[in-house]
Amino acid sequence: MNAQTPTVRPPIAMLAELTHRCPLSCPYCSNPVELARIDQEIDTATWKDVFRQAADLGVLQLHLSGGEPASRRDLEELVATAREAGLYTNLITSGIGLSERRLKALDEAGLDHIQLSLQGTTPEMADEIGGYNGGFKRKMQVAEWIGAIGFPLTLNAVLHRRNLHQLPRALEMAVEMGARRIEVATVQFHGWALKNRDTLMPTMEQAREADRIVTEARARLKGTLVIDYVPADYHSDYPKRCMGGWGSTGLNVTPDGKVLPCHAAESIPHLSFDRVTERSLRDIWYKGAAFNAYRGTDWMQEPCKSCERKTVDFGGCRCQAMAIVGDPNATDPVCIKSPHHGALQAQAAAHSSSEGADLVYRVSPKKTAETID
Ligand code: SF4
Ligand code: FES
Repeated sequence: MNAQTPTVRPPIAMLAELTHRCPLSCPYCSNPVELARIDQEIDTATWKDVFRQAADLGVLQLHLSGGEPASRRDLEELVATAREAGLYTNLITSGIGLSERRLKALDEAGLDHIQLSLQGTTPEMADEIGGYNGGFKRKMQVAEWIGAIGFPLTLNAVLHRRNLHQLPRALEMAVEMGARRIEVATVQFHGWALKNRDTLMPTMEQAREADRIVTEARARLKGTLVIDYVPADYHSDYPKRCMGGWGSTGLNVTPDGKVLPCHAAESIPHLSFDRVTERSLRDIWYKGAAFNAYRGTDWMQEPCKSCERKTVDFGGCRCQAMAIVGDPNATDPVCIKSPHHGALQAQAAAHSSSEGADLVYRVSPKKTAETID
């Protein structure tokens, strides 16, 4: 690394994608189109070793995700090991697959926090979007158990053209459930979600209305509920600082053990990824080719190269530049300074005004919720 590259600090957070298996089939899923199969998933002992390595590397927060992490039968054992290693553990779940008995076992294992996803605020919307009949009712039951056990809770509402009108109710539900935080995340188009842009792209008016509702709610609910907000970036003028900057604060481990700088990094064809079964996490973080590909600012082209915001947003999202411009080194086209910004806005307007498109699911919507003890 040359003198202009900032010193690489240890990662703060690790996202462990324990499995790609999931009872839901949300059409905005950002997991890859080709999912890791169950026989490719790394085993319990390997995950435990990865958690210990992560703590040793300096990681503080472990986000256990998927797919649906409750699909892993060893979840409680993995949580216990992560806590023993000194990691703060957060379970990112749809709630489907969690029983009261399992939640109590997770509490005993030391689980620190739960992030519960919300596909909609009514059974009709939630079950249609999640592709899972009975899912909303089950989720509300799980939310009650979470409250009774006393887990700190964050609600995660993914919003898009179909359900943005439910944002005020989602905020009310967060307060009613006793959540300390809500993530209001306008859908991001990665992985499977790209197939559903015609149905899910919010209109410009919806994006502005969501901005207004969030601003008003932040003032009204100050001290009661923290609201994290991911705006509709196709309708924005500046891009988000994706992953806090590539290779700067976090890393992802896939169900089959690949270590990625962000969850969509596999969409960048020239990158190759190390595996936890072949190289230490420390070595991958500091020396891995994928992590160093877009670290810092040396890789940038114009207009980012000479822009005063280059250490604010680090040129936006590499995966979005790849998906829209076909060049992962390009300025994120969300940026008003990108030569592709106008084309992106035209695309957003076209997607958001297209009518009659059906939701495309990974698998056919399920007819009934599974029975869980
Ligand atoms: Fe960010 Fe690049 Fe746009 Fe500047 S030109 S605001 S660094 S994306
Ligand atoms: Fe990969 Fe943004 S999702 S850099």
